[in-house]
Amino acid sequence: MGVIMRIYKATDYTDMSRKAANIISAQIIMKPNCVLGLATGSSPIGAYRQLVEWYHKGDLDFSEVRTVNLDEYKGLHREDQQSYYYFMNDNLFRHINIDLANTNIPNGMADDSLAECRRYDNIVHSFGGIDLQLLGIGHNGHIAFNEPDIAFEKSTHLVSLTESTIQANARLFDRIEDVPTHAYTMGIKNIMQAKKIVLVVSGEEKADIVRDAFLGPVTPNVPASILQMHNDLTIVGDGAALSKLNI
Ligand code: F6R
Repeated sequence: MGVIMRIYKATDYTDMSRKAANIISAQIIMKPNCVLGLATGSSPIGAYRQLVEWYHKGDLDFSEVRTVNLDEYKGLHREDQQSYYYFMNDNLFRHINIDLANTNIPNGMADDSLAECRRYDNIVHSFGGIDLQLLGIGHNGHIAFNEPDIAFEKSTHLVSLTESTIQANARLFDRIEDVPTHAYTMGIKNIMQAKKIVLVVSGEEKADIVRDAFLGPVTPNVPASILQMHNDLTIVGDGAALSKLNI
């Protein structure tokens, strides 16, 4: 099968979110018990909001949908407002008719990290893989918590957060000691095995990394560049984020 890279240019964040939500809803309509790989961060929030709106209109049914999230901080309880579990409930799950038993996020409080990584990989495996993986991209080209120089062949693993990530997160916590230093993340291997990938990106500050990731060489220095090798990748970006792709 050949490599397909589709690029959808949106006028702004709202348009980007609606276009991405359209693809996700098509997936749910085509396969009601599909496996969605989900992301946190500011990029997908608008798409989640749009999906919630369509759910309320009666256009979408999540009752059989299964989800696996990309990542979670180690050491944070689900109830912690900074946890990705909290984020997913707050932005999506509690607004729709998804069965929480069908949602999966790494357990930040697991005692045995290695066992937690294997448990998570087994979930993805038992689902028969991910039908559609939603992704954002970091300023340094990271996807999930796969930071530059990551080994492409990794599956779920524990990462040490870089000092700059810890400092950036510090504003969200009362005390620096409370800022997580480690996180669980799906690896590039899990992501690349997804049947379809949809990457959402907005804002001028991401234009350079979008160019490097999708026009530059495939290199572990820019983890997202591996997506060039995926056979069903859709990039949905606003004009500012795509401005250096020459399209
Ligand atoms: C989120 C994740 C991260 C973000 C990336 C972009 O689950 O894994 O890789 O997708 O940091 O974040 P935003 O969208 O906030 O710019």
